[in-house]
Amino acid sequence: MSREMYNETNLDKIEVNAEPPIEEPARQYYFMAKCREWVREFERINGRRPSFFTQTFGCQMNARDSEKLSGILETVGYQSTESEQADFVIYNTCTVRDNANQRVYGRLGVLNRYKKSNPQMKVALCGCMMQEPTVIEKLKKSYPFIDLIFGTHNIYKFAELLYTSFETEGMLIDIWEDTDRIVEDLPVERKYPFKSGINIMFGCNNFCSYCIVPYVRGRERSREPREIIREIERLVADGVVEVMLLGQNVNSYGKNLDEPITFAQLLQEVEKIEGLQRIRFMTSHPKDLSDDLIAVMKQSKKICRHLHLPLQSGSTRILQQMNRRYTREQYIELADRIRREIPDIAITTDIIVGFPGETPEDLEETIDMVRRVKYDNAFTFIYSKRTGTPAAAMENQVPAEQVKEGFDRLLKVVQDTAREQVAKYQGRVMEALIEEVNESDASLVTGRLSNNTIVHVPGDASLIGKIVPVSLDECHGFYYIGHCV
Ligand code: SAH
Ligand code: SF4
Ligand code: F3S
Repeated sequence: MSREMYNETNLDKIEVNAEPPIEEPARQYYFMAKCREWVREFERINGRRPSFFTQTFGCQMNARDSEKLSGILETVGYQSTESEQADFVIYNTCTVRDNANQRVYGRLGVLNRYKKSNPQMKVALCGCMMQEPTVIEKLKKSYPFIDLIFGTHNIYKFAELLYTSFETEGMLIDIWEDTDRIVEDLPVERKYPFKSGINIMFGCNNFCSYCIVPYVRGRERSREPREIIREIERLVADGVVEVMLLGQNVNSYGKNLDEPITFAQLLQEVEKIEGLQRIRFMTSHPKDLSDDLIAVMKQSKKICRHLHLPLQSGSTRILQQMNRRYTREQYIELADRIRREIPDIAITTDIIVGFPGETPEDLEETIDMVRRVKYDNAFTFIYSKRTGTPAAAMENQVPAEQVKEGFDRLLKVVQDTAREQVAKYQGRVMEALIEEVNESDASLVTGRLSNNTIVHVPGDASLIGKIVPVSLDECHGFYYIGHCV
């Protein structure tokens, strides 16, 4: 792991007995200094540093948020552990589908038992699920042992909340309905030294009719380009070679800034950063993908040959009910244009099966779309009814057996298509960023091609973080076995 302290603030120089500053991030550094005093007292009494464990559910944005939580915990003196029996356990939750919620409730039962055997243990919950009032009611009623609950909009206040919870008996809850602020320059603890996610925007304004994200992440807010560039420059100085620009709909980046800028323009600025070698981004909404973006990708030496372009459904009728604002024909035309301009690009997607009113014919159209676009990979999801979204109130919910049957049929076509696409590169030499030692065979390391395909090659840990040419010798379905050349 590696930590960036964006702020030169030395916690020792902060006067902890003074009133807390009003402005951010100074206020949070003040509370970090206060927390550190608390941690030192813990150390004096227990003869060891307190430990922490974070568990992230959901998307890359949540993963990045968890790195911010870890950054603060490490800064104040906590020690990270892989064990859930830690002194501080925090779950950063997701609520995009109901099974994400169920996993959290399941884990909470286990935590309750751990807490009974370690009375010093503190349990915190944050993230998207906490933005739902029904969830908070349930937690208050059935999980009273939780110490701290906060949401997505006030995560920047984590140091302050942590300190307040040290001083509070029982459950501390702080949830905001929305926010227009973005607080910069808090510490971050990266999971990988050589690659990093970067938030370029927060929230979503699209309100796809099935989706809860706009309700739990609030309205779209873009970060200032200079803040993004500054963050990436610092990451590169700290050893990062690949960045992933993150937003629910990166193609609408910059529209609401005082000095508007497009996503394509931002990419051109990021491209100029010396020492940065690879640029990825997630997610692109098809309705906002511009010709400028395709042109910038085509010319770029750094932007990876991978585009995640969620389809959701191949039926225009269902797309309209989903409020996706493109038709089947528009999507096909867009995918064709991208493949024509950037022939070696991998296109991946997300698909939902069982949206209200979906007929077997609609699903056939989706399956046909997978064959036509030839997705390099697709994440398929069974529709999950999210309370408060327009689709939850639709009457014609699809029976579970029909959904299951359709889902299996779709999955098979997705897998066949993906295998064919991946196999196209057999025998080629391509560059891979080596990410880790192979989990099941320590004589191999695992790398990722620009198009996101995984390749395992003989090698050792000294290769991690390096971009090396590899020969793609044997295709094994979704990955390659190869060797460095
Ligand atoms: N902003 C991204 C998606 C974020 S959610 C985008 O628009 O592409 C990731 C994926 O979860 C979505 O693409 C969708 O396929 C799936 N998803 C969202 N809500 C869902 C629901 N209620 N049921 C099933 N899948 C859902
Ligand atoms: Fe959800 Fe649609 Fe926003 Fe993606 S674009 S987060 S699917 S509402
Ligand atoms: Fe889940 Fe929130 Fe991401 S609901 S998918 S963690 S934005």
